Amino acid sequence: MEKKITVIGAGNVGSTVAQEIARLDLVKEVVMIDMKTGIAEGKALDQWQTSPILNFESRLVGVTNDYSLTRDSSVVVITAGVPRKPGMSRDDLILTNAVIVKEVTEKAVEYSPDAIFIVVSNPLDVMTYAAYLTAKKSPNKVFGMAGILDTARYRTFLANALNISPKDIQALLLGSHGDTMVPLKRYTTVSGIPVTDLLEEDVLDKIIERTRKGGGEIINHLGTSAWYAPGAAVANMVEAIIRDQRRVFPVCAYLNGEYGLNDIYLGVPCIIGKNGIESIITLNLNEAEKKLLVESAKSVKATMDVLDEMKLF
Ligand code: NAI
Ligand code: 2OP
Repeated sequence: MEKKITVIGAGNVGSTVAQEIARLDLVKEVVMIDMKTGIAEGKALDQWQTSPILNFESRLVGVTNDYSLTRDSSVVVITAGVPRKPGMSRDDLILTNAVIVKEVTEKAVEYSPDAIFIVVSNPLDVMTYAAYLTAKKSPNKVFGMAGILDTARYRTFLANALNISPKDIQALLLGSHGDTMVPLKRYTTVSGIPVTDLLEEDVLDKIIERTRKGGGEIINHLGTSAWYAPGAAVANMVEAIIRDQRRVFPVCAYLNGEYGLNDIYLGVPCIIGKNGIESIITLNLNEAEKKLLVESAKSVKATMDVLDEMKLF
């Protein structure tokens, strides 16, 4: 069994990620670290006390700011940062979160130079880029989680509309973790049946629009952003790495010519295994799909410009 996974940030998302990972019994130890005194320790202790009830053995450990306890992690998950409040876009977070992501990545990479880094903090595509610039690692070892979450939202909305199990809906989504994300109708099936055979175009379009705004819908209910589905989505990714499952997920990956795009992190289908991103799958997109992806890339580039102006790198 591999030794350790670290989750940075013990807030709503980080603590859910830690609990989901521990329950999968992937490693001996799951370390949660936060800057706020006691929050990681308290949550980890409470979670570890669920182990006899929920039958898992991965030990949860919490720590305030002492990165030496994260030493030799196989995977580091970055959730540190502020979440959105009602009325904010994911991009509004950049000025605060870029500084945090840079700081925590520097510290984590010092103790775990060989780890695979999964970024969750928003604005996701640009924060993943910031972690990549900081970690100075191969981009197949630094990537972001958003596509599994966005696709899960899309699949559950479809399941509701069709009154069927969400398990039987396969779907794919490209582009940024933002309003310009690109759910692909052509790659959406119900146990192999094209979704367009089962739903009217206008119903499908409404579901796609709801998916694009899925994060905001939850923020409007809660006053802060989601954590259960994001936490489960990250655990799916970590499991694929530790168990070398070679799963196919939409992942926020570094593009170096793929899809005609360069030097940008964007959601694309990837094979995930023990080396992180084992490969990026290039789809044969039609003109309309390509156009949407280019629009999405443009919106990420605009946020990358803000990062540039911050002169952190
Ligand atoms: P939260 O506020 O509940 O937790 C964030 C934690 O980060 C806090 O406990 C805070 O003390 C900690 N933190 C801040 N600066 C730190 C530092 N320098 N070192 C260590 N810890 C630090 O927020 P929540 O809801 O957990 O969200 C975390 C991030 O994840 C946000 O940026 C949010 O927008 C993003 N998010 C991304 C999703 C995705 O699909 N990629 C989905 C949901 C949230
Ligand atoms: C979400 O999509 C806000 O990115 C966060 O729930």
